[in-house]
Amino acid sequence: MSTDTHPPFEKKPASARSDGELIRLEQVTKRFGDHTVLDHLDFSVDAGKHVTLIGPSGSGKTTILRLLMTLLKPDEGTITVAGEQLFPAPDKQVREVRKKIGMVFQQFNLFPNMTVLRNITEAPVTVLGMSKDAAEERARELLEMVGLTEHLDKHPGQLSGGQQQRVAIARALAMRPQVLLLDEVTSALDPELVAGVLDVLRDIARSTDITMLCVTHEMNFARDISDQVLMFDSGRIIEAGSPEKIFSEPEHDRTREFLSAVL
Ligand SMILES: Nc1ncnc2c1ncn2[C@@H]1O[C@H](COP(=O)(O)OP(=O)(O)O)[C@@H](O)[C@H]1O
Ligand SMILES: [Mg+2]
Repeated sequence: MSTDTHPPFEKKPASARSDGELIRLEQVTKRFGDHTVLDHLDFSVDAGKHVTLIGPSGSGKTTILRLLMTLLKPDEGTITVAGEQLFPAPDKQVREVRKKIGMVFQQFNLFPNMTVLRNITEAPVTVLGMSKDAAEERARELLEMVGLTEHLDKHPGQLSGGQQQRVAIARALAMRPQVLLLDEVTSALDPELVAGVLDVLRDIARSTDITMLCVTHEMNFARDISDQVLMFDSGRIIEAGSPEKIFSEPEHDRTREFLSAVL
């Protein structure tokens, strides 16, 4: 692979930032036993956009991200990523399409027995077949971006939660995904560590063309980075719009109630 000499991302001009749909869910239904969590959900995200999902606990936000990560399978419907079907699809195609997607979880899930550097280089080497040198060069660029260059030889247990989460962000980006899924990535952090992680994500949103699909309870952050906010309730999108509209002039009582509880 000749990825060695590329900078982490090339920022495209604004006019080139939306080249159609990157993610499409059509009529997606997900049940757990006889509990229908998502009921014929339609939903799409355009390339280069930053979309935030808000809504009460249990409304199905994590389920959507887990379906996209292929950690769960829908019971019905289709999921398409960058024009290729992720579900239903043969295993080989699922593995290929899945490489376009990176995810950061609430719990960082780093490999505890590997150094920070190795946490980031492992998947590019084993999954993408990158050379060790190229993967390390890229990992160093990403560690600089998340402000952790001096910690690359440490193990996760030697870092704060906020630092570990920044490693997890770098690890996801090392796979060069087209879309980054973020599931309440600051919810498990001590309050004083939240801002540093959100600053890194703001920087990524501003300086790269990666598509972001984000679940968060950090409403100021959502307002700053989002092109679109989707309000979820009981597995349905009850309201969608710009952050200005959703946060300043919500139409639905349910959205108003939710926002007054979290703001
Ligand atoms: N693996 C599972 N088994 C059974 N029920 C689940 C499972 N995962 C999620 N659920 C249920 O699905 C609903 C939606 O969950 P989730 O997508 O995690 O919501 P959110 O992220 O919006 O809080 C909840 O009622 C939850 O209890
Ligand atoms: Mg959740």
